[in-house]
Amino acid sequence: MIDAADPSDLPVLPTDDAAYWQNPYPHLAEARERSRVARNAEGLLQVLRWDDAVETMKGTRFIAEGIEVLERKGFAPGDPMHTWRKNAIGTMEGDDHRRVRGLAAAALSKRKMDDLRPMIRRHAHALLDAKQDEGALEGRLDYATPLPRRVMMEFLGVAADEMMSSMGPMARVNIVDCFGPNVTPKLREEANHAIQLSMDHTAMLFERRRKEPKDDLLTALVQAGDANEQLSEGELVTLFSTIFGSGASTASIIASGMMELARHPDQAALLRDDPERWARGASEETLRYRPAITGVGQKAATDLEAFGLSLEAGTPLMVSLGSANRDPRYYDDPETFDVTRDPKRTSLTFGIGAHVCLGHAMARATVEEALAVFVSRCDEIELEEEPRWIPFVMENKLEGLSLRFTPRADARPNGER
Ligand code: HEM
Repeated sequence: MIDAADPSDLPVLPTDDAAYWQNPYPHLAEARERSRVARNAEGLLQVLRWDDAVETMKGTRFIAEGIEVLERKGFAPGDPMHTWRKNAIGTMEGDDHRRVRGLAAAALSKRKMDDLRPMIRRHAHALLDAKQDEGALEGRLDYATPLPRRVMMEFLGVAADEMMSSMGPMARVNIVDCFGPNVTPKLREEANHAIQLSMDHTAMLFERRRKEPKDDLLTALVQAGDANEQLSEGELVTLFSTIFGSGASTASIIASGMMELARHPDQAALLRDDPERWARGASEETLRYRPAITGVGQKAATDLEAFGLSLEAGTPLMVSLGSANRDPRYYDDPETFDVTRDPKRTSLTFGIGAHVCLGHAMARATVEEALAVFVSRCDEIELEEEPRWIPFVMENKLEGLSLRFTPRADARPNGER
């Protein structure tokens, strides 16, 4: 094991190899046993162990990575992407972070999570009704992606045409790739163009709610931001797209959960027989096993010693949530997907500390209801082919998820499980 490490001795994760992304976990396990930190193919430090991951996200020695991450990828001040990201809550620290987070938390808390569950189940059943007779579905496109999007639209009070015009341009470009290793001038141009369109349309949407307020969360968010000019227009636009865009993370967990249920028929049967198991730990296990967001970017707040290394202030690093969530120092038998696992050992899938995910209650409710409805309506779930992961994205994304299932005779299409 590497202790007071010579940085050049650190294990290197082959993140530039597309094959790595099909199953990074054996690489992470090997590196984690050798060393507290590894480097990725770009040289960026990766924090691998659970306790180090907690300290890095929770303590004060490290802070959220700032806009410099995008600048390293060639985005400059004045670029729409730069403006958008600079206004993101995830890059803020101190008073600005507290101000934006407080407003967002207050607006989101206006809807009670338990009221959401019947709504989530209604959308889940409607999507499965459409596939019931076929006994087959493309799990990502037919279920995992549209479900959180519909839930989010109803939650915020945004109509389909409003969503398409404000979020559509951004959704058509893989914005997360702008943080990855392969940022080309073409990607920069496409991302800047898409972000500008989305920012313009979102600003128009806000204007509409200012002129014609509705009894919805979007109006509440706009009014909270406008009161005493607590949020700039740019901050409000970025916050809206952060909240809306987080549906992609929820979709990622639902899709990987469907995949694991197909791979583990015994565990699917346990959940079918006793749906209360979802709340007792099965959804936590689904969240732990394949965190949607693979890593959280941080940087050293000052010159400091950590993980046996001397780091200069501003040194960037990535907390590998995928590795920390499978650290055998914290979880028994961590490579096994086990829905009976004790949920007290919660995962780091939503981060921890000052920036912990603001939507975790909503995300948990959506994941739990989505998978509970799916398993309650489908017997004998099978993968039609081994799913492949899209390489080089910061979010776990499947290329496809073709599934066959036997519809259950006693499935309840009235919206209740
Ligand atoms: C399964 C789905 C989700 C996952 C895995 C997820 C994960 C995360 C993670 C890892 C962070 C960053 C923590 C950090 O930087 O230290 C984060 C931040 C955030 N998430 Fe989520 N999230 C999900 C769903 C949602 C939803 C549904 C919403 C909104 C309703 C949301 C809103 C936010 C916001 C606003 C932040 C920024 C918080 C801050 O910087 O203070 N997320 N999320």
